Amino acid sequence: MSLAVLVSGTGSILDAMVDAGLPVALVVSDRPCTAVSRAAGHDIEAVVVRRHSFGDDFDRDGYSSMLADRLGERGVTLVAMAGFGTILGQPFHDRFAGRVLNTHPALLPAFPGWHGVRDALAAGVDVTGCTVHLATLEVDAGPILAQEEVAVRPDDDESSLHERIKVVERRLYVDTLRAVLDGEIPLEPPATEPEPAAEGATP
Ligand code: GAR
Repeated sequence: MSLAVLVSGTGSILDAMVDAGLPVALVVSDRPCTAVSRAAGHDIEAVVVRRHSFGDDFDRDGYSSMLADRLGERGVTLVAMAGFGTILGQPFHDRFAGRVLNTHPALLPAFPGWHGVRDALAAGVDVTGCTVHLATLEVDAGPILAQEEVAVRPDDDESSLHERIKVVERRLYVDTLRAVLDGEIPLEPPATEPEPAAEGATP
């Protein structure tokens, strides 16, 4: 399996994957970010497939199709999202059906979406955590592969809680990906033929 990691942020989970010896073949970002420099520091090819719009005019399917093409060209067969900031559309999930993993900083199905840590704090829960799951078209709703709890402390703010969750994510995601790569967690077979690019896709 050829593993690509999709990033948009600081890349601390990417770092943990590489430090643990996972065979990361390619790092892809949707914007310039620290994670891209971290990839370079590890001597891993990093590609920015830049997202030019964050507004209503964003062509999600076109972008998803272009991203799938870029990964397909490089022979990628397994995708790990690690703080990737773009929700991917149908063309991406068609191409990599059942082979896209994600980590989320809450105990799904509780607190899905962009603010999982903030929402858990606002709800006043004593325990939250993280979830490694298969990404599907419906955001944060795919099959759960692994979860681990993290206790909320009375003096936590979003940042302190998120940092403690990320400590767990770095271990749990690595362990889950290793189990996938070792065949202990079976996935769908990879698609052999790339889907045709969506109409209107930009090169
Ligand atoms: C992680 O906490 C990950 O769960 C979260 O972004 C962080 C990435 O950290 N992803 C999401 O919230 C996706 N919904 P990093 O950039 O330091 O690796």
